Amino acid sequence: MRVLGKAGDEIHILAMQNEEIHRGDYLLLEDQSKELRLVVQAYDETYLDIPGLSEEILRDEVIGISMQGIEEDPMDVRNISFLIRDSRVLKCKMRGMISDSRLKPASTLLPSRVHTRVRKLSLNELFTLVDRKGGRAIEIGYGGKDPIEIFAESLDGRINIVTGKKESGKSYLSKLLAGSLVKLGASLIVFDLNDEYKGLAVNKNGTPSSLSERTIRLEPGRSMKFDLKDLGLRAICNVLQNALDLPGASMREFIRIWKSLVDHDSLNSESLGNALVAARTNEFVRDALIARYHTLRSTGLLSDGPETIRLEEIVGQSGGGVLILISLARLPPLTRKIAVELVLSKLVDLLEFEKIRPIFLFAEEAHLYLRETYWDDIVTRMRHFGIFTTFITNQPDAISHGIYRQCDNVFLFNFTNDADIELVSKAAMVDAETVKSIVRTLPPRSCLVLGRVVADLPIVVQVNESEWNSMGETKLFFSDAFQDHEKEIQASR
Ligand SMILES: Nc1ncnc2c1ncn2[C@@H]1O[C@H](COP(=O)(O)OP(=O)(O)O)[C@@H](O)[C@H]1O
Ligand SMILES: [Mg+2]
Repeated sequence: MRVLGKAGDEIHILAMQNEEIHRGDYLLLEDQSKELRLVVQAYDETYLDIPGLSEEILRDEVIGISMQGIEEDPMDVRNISFLIRDSRVLKCKMRGMISDSRLKPASTLLPSRVHTRVRKLSLNELFTLVDRKGGRAIEIGYGGKDPIEIFAESLDGRINIVTGKKESGKSYLSKLLAGSLVKLGASLIVFDLNDEYKGLAVNKNGTPSSLSERTIRLEPGRSMKFDLKDLGLRAICNVLQNALDLPGASMREFIRIWKSLVDHDSLNSESLGNALVAARTNEFVRDALIARYHTLRSTGLLSDGPETIRLEEIVGQSGGGVLILISLARLPPLTRKIAVELVLSKLVDLLEFEKIRPIFLFAEEAHLYLRETYWDDIVTRMRHFGIFTTFITNQPDAISHGIYRQCDNVFLFNFTNDADIELVSKAAMVDAETVKSIVRTLPPRSCLVLGRVVADLPIVVQVNESEWNSMGETKLFFSDAFQDHEKEIQASR
């Protein structure tokens, strides 16, 4: 390989067909004349355009068609000509220069075209040049032939985004991350829209996994019911205001009624209902309150019985690791929103009073149940309290620009839609050309990792197969069961 030229902030490298360099690979340029060592990343490749080459190809084709005969080529000119035709230009972006065995920023250095040796830099070599701190490794896959580890510490306290088109492997990676974090002792809550994370409790062969004892699956309205007093006024007010659109005037009345019940030590969901009906207030206010109360009751999320749960007991204080799956799969949209609102409000309360340790949150397709104003809250206030969110979505436009700017790690899977690619390339933390070119050509199960976990060096990773049963479950009409049924019908005829 040779340095061919430079255009803007790009360096062009000439490579032969047999040199195994792909998009995303890193190259080391060693300029012996200046003692300069540059690290660049190939993001795109094209043919080398030499004047006259198209003419030669055309001539070859025409002659090949019109004259069938014996070809004579004693000097093996053809072979050389073929090599030239197939030579490639790798478009590379500068990622830094090496000095004192460390990667430092470099922008305007021009390596010699004569004295520079070019070779591939393995990812292991690359990572020895940067500081990636941490002792809790999670092996997520392979970059070329090198296994890629990321450190749990670089996910801790961070906001992450996993995005890509459908079926590209987002949930699979997310499950791998979630399972590994819990294994390392983290508390983690999943808003599980497709009820698929329960696979983490099972090994591939069907036996209970090491996480099965630490996995708790909650179904809002069934196994997830709250006691009003335990939830507290703030959580209920949040629900009334944000999910149930209660006007301000009615809210004041509600708070008054709540407080008087607390003063008489008689607050429960039954007594609250009675107090609202008996309230001596404006008729509209009362009707508004009663309507909301019935909606809330109908979700089944409130209870006065012993079956109520306390999040702080589930999350626990220990560092043993717990995986809490909140199954949102079979819920009506409003119940989903209310359940999410209650959980988040309660978590913030608990974190504020340091009743639980910080917690990771995985949110699949969050735009389906998270109100808009929550997004900014999650990346600012809630992160400050200790909720570290990973957003997983196949609709990159559902995540606002502000959040892309605030997030620390992005796992980008394949997109084919131009609008989506344009959007993620603008939002990601690396130059748009790299994202556009690499993301478009990523095979399924591979992703471009950006951000802290890779020390800001974009890396293409083929995601590992995990130890858990991480299959996504999509219910199909023409399933095997259906076919068996069809066969039975055929046979019986
Ligand atoms: N790294 C991987 N190894 C093995 N199977 C995978 C891997 N990534 C994805 N899959 C499989 O591909 C399918 C789609 O993956 P999934 O993560 O559900 O896609 P997405 O969430 O992006 O729609 C699933 O059946 C999953 O089991
Ligand atoms: Mg998915």
